[in-house]
Amino acid sequence: MCEKVYIKTWGCQMNHYDSNKIKVYLSNYINYSLVYCLDEANIIILNTCSVRQKAQDKLFFFLDRIKNIKKFKNNIIVAVGGCVSMQEKEKIFLRSNIVDIIFGPQTLHKIYDFILKFRKNKKKIIDINFSGIEKNIDLPNNINLNFNRRSLSYVSIMEGCNKFCSYCIVPYTRGREISRSPENIISEICRLSLYGVSEINLLGQNVNAYNGILKNNKRCDFSYLLKLISNIDGIKRIKFTTSHPNNFTDKLINTYSKISKIINFLHLPIQSGSDNILKKMRRGYTTDYYKNLVKKILCVRKNMIFGSDFIVGFPTESIEDFQLTLDLVSKIKFDNSFVFMYSPRPHTKSFNVLDDVSIEEKKNRLYKINDLLYKNSIYWKNKMINSIQKVLVEGVSSKNLDFYFGYTENSKIVYFKGYKNLLGQLIKIKIIKLYKNYLYGVLI
Ligand code: SAH
Ligand code: SF4
Ligand code: F3S
Repeated sequence: MCEKVYIKTWGCQMNHYDSNKIKVYLSNYINYSLVYCLDEANIIILNTCSVRQKAQDKLFFFLDRIKNIKKFKNNIIVAVGGCVSMQEKEKIFLRSNIVDIIFGPQTLHKIYDFILKFRKNKKKIIDINFSGIEKNIDLPNNINLNFNRRSLSYVSIMEGCNKFCSYCIVPYTRGREISRSPENIISEICRLSLYGVSEINLLGQNVNAYNGILKNNKRCDFSYLLKLISNIDGIKRIKFTTSHPNNFTDKLINTYSKISKIINFLHLPIQSGSDNILKKMRRGYTTDYYKNLVKKILCVRKNMIFGSDFIVGFPTESIEDFQLTLDLVSKIKFDNSFVFMYSPRPHTKSFNVLDDVSIEEKKNRLYKINDLLYKNSIYWKNKMINSIQKVLVEGVSSKNLDFYFGYTENSKIVYFKGYKNLLGQLIKIKIIKLYKNYLYGVLI
């Protein structure tokens, strides 16, 4: 029988990566096809996020939506995984009786076992243990984990977080930091490179806290892992997300001078420009520390562009605190950043602190900071005109076969006149013109 599986994913890149792993594990055991229409499915898998209340609510809205489908087709199986499972546990069964299976980010590799067991016993199943990182072992060879681009693939290197920022649910949903073995990561990347992947985006809640153990029992830190990956011939470009300012060691900064395959864009969340708020957030650094770190990185890579995450309306954030954040956004000229309105999360330290910035004010601050970030993005885009960019060639234009396209280090799409042998190559392009959604350049 061919199972018809519908998978819905919310949340971060790690969660999307996990959903791809679910597909890999399913294909290991069964003949299945993915369906995109709920009515056609006989298995529905929901991979959830709980970083903010809104993200969590999406699961319950969705479950309400599919209630009727289950009424008419009661052999359909509904499985809920991801961070809401870890946060709400069996309470999900109480809130929605159509859920049959609850699994967690560390038990997703057992998904088909759960389905079989449920079919046999007709008893609800919950398994959200932290069993280490065994889900990454034994991936079949014939699967390419790409999800949107032929030449780009995400690879998870570590999961979890030990930092316990006062607002954040992640340490409770993803557990403490666990690093995958370096050999396991390298073999996944080598396999991807054989499939034509030349750009790797390393994933983890704090990638630079990576602390792997090599087979010879020696430690492998993030800098060393980058070195191992950069030695793989087919890999031409290395990105990573997310790094934490406190784990950005001098050794890692130096790695930038040695490995040119690491891109000139760094996502380095600061969250707030006010020391007062950073302290309450328990981020463990000051704005001076952060600015100094940026300076040190710029000494090694003068063209580095920074991106960040910001939370607006953290409890007690005053207009003055917020102004300090705006000043920092202008000073560092952050590009490609994400701004979130503070949302109280259960279990966290700040959950019991009065959420005293009104929703209108949060929206107002969100709008202001995004406005500034938009201006920064125009600034960086304009700076690209007449510059020479390294472009990884991805494909041929669907409108004109003489034109090819690729991506710059900061993920902007560029069209240029080219030829077939350039596919998959890292080439230099002079940017001539900016359009709204893409750049136009010429080969040099
Ligand atoms: N480990 C990364 C971020 C992981 S969560 C880091 O510390 O840099 C992704 C982003 O979600 C965070 O950077 C933060 O900006 C936002 N976030 C986390 N918890 C939040 C909350 N309770 N309310 C609003 N935004 C939140
Ligand atoms: Fe959350 Fe802080 Fe850990 Fe990032 S470092 S995942 S914000 S607790
Ligand atoms: Fe969301 Fe969990 Fe990722 S809370 S942001 S899916 S780590």
